[in-house]
Amino acid sequence: MRAKVPDARVLAALIATSLWLGSARHGSAQVEERVERVDYRTEIRPLFAEYCYECHGPDRAKREADLRLDEKRFAFADRRGYHLIVPGKPEESEVWLRVASEFAEDRMPPYTAGVDLSEEHKALIRRWIEEGAEWPEDAAAESAAAAPAAPRRRQSGIRAVEVPGEPFVIHTHEIADVRVVPLARGLSHPWSLAFLPKGDVLITERGGSLRLFQDGVLVPEPLEGVPSDVLARGLSGMMEVALHPQFEQNHLVYLTYTRKLGERLGTVALVRGRLEGTALRDVEDVFVADPWLDEASAAGEGQTTQGAATAAARLAFAPDGTLFMTMGGAFGVERDDGTHSFMGKGMLAQDLSSHAGKLLRLNDDGTAPKDNPFYGRPGYKPEIYSLGHRNQQGLALHPVTGQPFAVEHAPQGGDELNAIEPGANYGWPIISYGRHYDGPRIAKQFWREGMKEPVVLWVPSIAPSGLTFYTGDRFPEWKGNLFVGALMVGRIPRTGHLERIVFNERGEELRRESMLTELRQRIRDVRQGPDGLLYVLTEETQAALLRLEPVE
Ligand code: HEC
Repeated sequence: MRAKVPDARVLAALIATSLWLGSARHGSAQVEERVERVDYRTEIRPLFAEYCYECHGPDRAKREADLRLDEKRFAFADRRGYHLIVPGKPEESEVWLRVASEFAEDRMPPYTAGVDLSEEHKALIRRWIEEGAEWPEDAAAESAAAAPAAPRRRQSGIRAVEVPGEPFVIHTHEIADVRVVPLARGLSHPWSLAFLPKGDVLITERGGSLRLFQDGVLVPEPLEGVPSDVLARGLSGMMEVALHPQFEQNHLVYLTYTRKLGERLGTVALVRGRLEGTALRDVEDVFVADPWLDEASAAGEGQTTQGAATAAARLAFAPDGTLFMTMGGAFGVERDDGTHSFMGKGMLAQDLSSHAGKLLRLNDDGTAPKDNPFYGRPGYKPEIYSLGHRNQQGLALHPVTGQPFAVEHAPQGGDELNAIEPGANYGWPIISYGRHYDGPRIAKQFWREGMKEPVVLWVPSIAPSGLTFYTGDRFPEWKGNLFVGALMVGRIPRTGHLERIVFNERGEELRRESMLTELRQRIRDVRQGPDGLLYVLTEETQAALLRLEPVE
């Protein structure tokens, strides 16, 4: 039987679709099928069910961002002025923008989940929205049933593990038996913790809350009075919590978070407030980073956010009362072919008129100390202490010298621990051991005269996070060791761990040990408690606070 000669409209659709299908699929049956409109029931719902329901479906305990994509009334809801799905307009639909974002830290499903939507699947969602995002009313009732009991997508063979409810013992190199005590579970993406004088713990959650672990129990209600203009998206939101060195007298708590500036834009803010019982009072701005916008975003066009909205910010008070603050967000590098990822904001790390990609040093009121290395130089940001950083997610002061040490995320390979000197340049993105996520090298050189080399280098990446030098007496064999939280190794989800690094007296690395690997959790923070024990935060939807103690 001879095929009918297609008319112009069908031909155009054929061409569009064969582009869409790519070279992998041929055959007129499939091509003709694509002349049909995208069908919600058979094409979109299974996609959402497979890739999105896990976090945006009927299961309340695992739901993220209070977002449901399993029912029409939620999926089309007005979300504080922007819309998830705008029929006919993918560029105004948050669902499309987040699925297609060129910003890996912003993309859905999150890259930490370890699955990507294929180009075909993305094109399907786009077309469905373009064609009017038809979602038959009677499909709503069936939606919950469509959520697969176990996700049907091609899963990583490394399965999730739940943090045990009971204490358990791990075995490590220098100390044979270490007990791990789960203190609290059910936290949502905690970022940081700080110890109150009597041993209670303040914990931030990325979504925008500050929690209190008091007398051995996680207080169910978050603290009142924390800023409400938190932009929680991608890997940012509420971040650091730190106490003023004279907290016992002034009760001042410092917080860093991503502050909303309009719909989808943000910058990093440092605020402080007085802790009174379970509330923060008199919260005031201490320091707000100059936002760094790409032109399209500044003009209110553009895709989603840029650097400032995903910049990490850690804090550490120095013995002289000044405050070190990391300021990440210098993502993205232009490639040889002129294309770039992450809006190409990486070079801001070398720009002394920008806060992006720097370590800052502030007074406790947010002003710049006069002895900062670039203070008083016209055009330079006076808060800058060091430059050439990409995104520093961990910060700790050396227990003897007081020198700041910071861990920094490269994209793929090339994560660094840097010993920071005032005014020094750590090289990003001019020198780097990292690669773009799709393979090519970031930089032409690994090192260069006048730029600092890392003290510790990770290839592959471990996505280093919280950082602590151990100085306590409870684990004498670990004295002076550096502990680093690792979110994932070599871009494989569920490979997070707690890393222990041993240095000699010259600060040179001797050995590294990966601990808590069996938990398969992303480890977000590690701190030494006033009791000399180590406290660890996992970073998951149902995250835990753990305590490491010696087995006596
Ligand atoms: C592993 C969990 C996970 C999966 C799977 C996932 N998301 Fe998300 N999603 C999140 C988290 C966490 C947030 C909140 C942080 C953020 O905005 O990045 C979020 C936020 C969003 C938002 C922004 C909501 C708002 O109001 O700001 C959209 C839109 C979204 N997701 C769409 C999707 C789509 C579409 C899929 C499937 C293709 C998907 N997500 C899959 C975890 C997930």
